[in-house]
Amino acid sequence: MIKIAPSILAANPLELGKEAIRMQTAGCDWLHVDIMDAHFVRNLAYNPDTVRKLKEIVKVPLDVHLMMDHPETMLDAFLKAGADVLTLHAEAEGSLKEMIGKIHAAGALAGIALKPDTRPEKVRGLFDMADLILTMTVEPGFGGQKLDERIPGKMKTLRDMGYNGLIEADGGIREDNLEKLIQCGLDVAVMGTALFQSTDPKSMIQRLHSMNTPGKKE
Ligand code: DX5
Ligand code: ZN
Repeated sequence: MIKIAPSILAANPLELGKEAIRMQTAGCDWLHVDIMDAHFVRNLAYNPDTVRKLKEIVKVPLDVHLMMDHPETMLDAFLKAGADVLTLHAEAEGSLKEMIGKIHAAGALAGIALKPDTRPEKVRGLFDMADLILTMTVEPGFGGQKLDERIPGKMKTLRDMGYNGLIEADGGIREDNLEKLIQCGLDVAVMGTALFQSTDPKSMIQRLHSMNTPGKKE
């Protein structure tokens, strides 16, 4: 069954705790926490204390997406704060191999994110180490953008290349374009705008969970 991960970047920052609990009550599977350093992307978002405080109030796994040039400087802080999934960008500085090893040593899942223009070949050597590959469906940095139609094909390519871990997508995902992504191999859908602007996220998540391609494992 597809996992739904609301992105708190789309939440009201003045009500963050309530919004996180609202999405957990609505039945989300993970909570997606965007971290931005105003350098890798032209935006700034959240920090380890946000993760630590969220960890105290929600039970769902915290799926932390580091949009940072130098993620190695903050890995320990996010792991100590309680990140359950920690995703680094393939375009960032530092040794992905070393950082994945650190994330695994702390007992968390390690993800590698690919910007829309980054080819899967760039991370072929890490297919066996990465628990998750995040194929960004928008240019990272801001919510509310339109899904990049090239990316479903990129997911299929990952599967054709023999990648068997989780595939996550992030940005511009809505109820009317999710099914196609699931058919291309998607396991985790990050949704910010579509979920936080919904008047009934619980019913919406139920509909999204029922979207399964024939033969997909439950
Ligand atoms: C963009 C972020 C996404 C974004 C979600 O850099 O990584 O998580 O907040 O986008 P929407 O709001 O389009 O679902
Ligand atoms: Zn994200």
